[in-house]
Amino acid sequence: MSPRLRRFALATAVVVGIAAAGALAVMAGLFERSVVEASADAPLTPQQMKGLVERGRYLARAADCAACHTAPGGAPLAGGLAFPMPFGTLYATNITPDAETGIGRWTRAQFQRALRDGVAPRGHLYPAMPYVSYRQLTANDTDAIYAYVMSRPPIRQENRANSFPFDYVRPTLAFWNLLNLPARGFVPDTTRPNDWNRGKYLVDALGHCGECHTPRDLTLGMIAQRYLQGTRIENVDAPDVTPTGLLRMGFDAAALARYLPAGTGPQGVMNFSMYDVVHNSTRWLTKDDAAAMATYLTALQPMVSASLAAAPASTLPPAGRQTYLQLCSACHGVDGEGIAHVAPPMRTNASLRVSSPRNLLVVIADGLPERALPDGERYQAMPAFGHVLDDQQIADLATWLRGNWGGTSAAVRQVEVQAVRPKFP
Ligand code: HEC
Ligand code: HEC
Ligand code: HEC
Repeated sequence: MSPRLRRFALATAVVVGIAAAGALAVMAGLFERSVVEASADAPLTPQQMKGLVERGRYLARAADCAACHTAPGGAPLAGGLAFPMPFGTLYATNITPDAETGIGRWTRAQFQRALRDGVAPRGHLYPAMPYVSYRQLTANDTDAIYAYVMSRPPIRQENRANSFPFDYVRPTLAFWNLLNLPARGFVPDTTRPNDWNRGKYLVDALGHCGECHTPRDLTLGMIAQRYLQGTRIENVDAPDVTPTGLLRMGFDAAALARYLPAGTGPQGVMNFSMYDVVHNSTRWLTKDDAAAMATYLTALQPMVSASLAAAPASTLPPAGRQTYLQLCSACHGVDGEGIAHVAPPMRTNASLRVSSPRNLLVVIADGLPERALPDGERYQAMPAFGHVLDDQQIADLATWLRGNWGGTSAAVRQVEVQAVRPKFP
């Protein structure tokens, strides 16, 4: 080997060696910062556990644990819900206190680390479990959730095997955490009032609203600079819920404080996965907590309201108006006023005001199921029109609705309709 080649080989070996040592160090957790205090190693007494159960029940609802840890029709918290990922399907696990198949043997510290560090006894958790958000939970609240979960009936149900050998990949999640897991937990902003801080805690830590409303980067980490600005989730859009986005949809603090627990109001009705958020979580919030959430989310809302003047009728497709009067007005009203307890109003509806027409098009094409809402409210089913109207008719209808009541003059295009209904050729 020539001296030059030898030097090159040596240099390469050194670089590879350093990289390998670095990778091992990351995977061994040398760079990981736990936010769990050492005091969590001391178990809680049975009396302490008992005293925390009711608060834990409330917090577990605010954190919506059941949404993911309960399979459709399955036993509460016994796991089994599927999470389709780009390379396979991951299943949420049994978190009932069954000693064999659930988390019955878990210590207080293990539970704290799973929720706030994303590390379980079996290794790193996938961020489908929203530990990036739960990292901000306080130690006390996490203890209360622990006490509540441990007070539930143990359910014997084996965890479903993941479709991909996710377990082999677990150690590499340490890299992901290096990029995407904040170093610290919740830090109150002492320059802000208490209800603002309480609201931020409810939104970021418990409610993990950003997990669906904040756009993600290529590593699938939430982009901090685009906090709550809205993103595609499954087939629909979770809208912009920054103060500006909320104002555009017609929410000030008072309106939002009513809408979050009710799931319906002049702004329409919560659909898709947001319906489940209301059903399992926000409906259980106390008045004060719902108000704090709304205060935080609308803080610094621009004072001038986003203009919602109707686009001039001459610029809107007359065919859209015709379709509305023929097919929609019987339920939603000739003037878009809706019918109380039957069909939501259109003229003040948030789904016509958001920047993307996608959710509106999905509702028109697929309809909505009959649903129960909090406080005994109930809506009938909304019929599907995907097989009745062609792409251009739906586009015209959507353009007219958005122009007339949504303050948006941009025309909805046929391709946007096609994108939401490949099943109707
Ligand atoms: C958005 C969905 C989602 C929510 C909400 C959620 N989880 Fe999870 N959780 C998961 C998934 C998926 C896994 C499995 C992750 C994996 O296999 O790496 C998991 C794993 C866990 C584990 C680890 C179990 C084990 O056997 O290693 C615990 C404990 C847990 N979750 C508790 C909770 C609690 C308590 C809450 C509410 C405060 C909660 N989760 C809310 C999706 C969720
Ligand atoms: C599981 C994903 C998910 C989570 C978590 C989530 N959202 Fe949503 N959100 C959505 C989707 C999807 C929509 C669009 C619903 C629609 O078009 O009706 C939405 C819509 C909304 C709207 C607009 C109202 C409407 O009728 O469309 C508000 C306000 C909102 N979310 C607030 C929140 C808050 C506050 C939280 C945290 C407590 C939260 N969301 C958590 C998915 C989510
Ligand atoms: C038979 C009565 C009926 C007819 C006809 C009808 N709708 Fe609906 N619509 C409903 C009901 C009821 C809901 C609420 C369903 C739910 O939340 O489960 C709804 C919901 C909606 C929503 C979602 C509103 C929101 O707040 O998110 C939109 C948009 C909508 N309809 C548009 C239309 C359009 C456009 C037409 C005509 C093509 C139409 N509807 C025809 C009854 C109807």
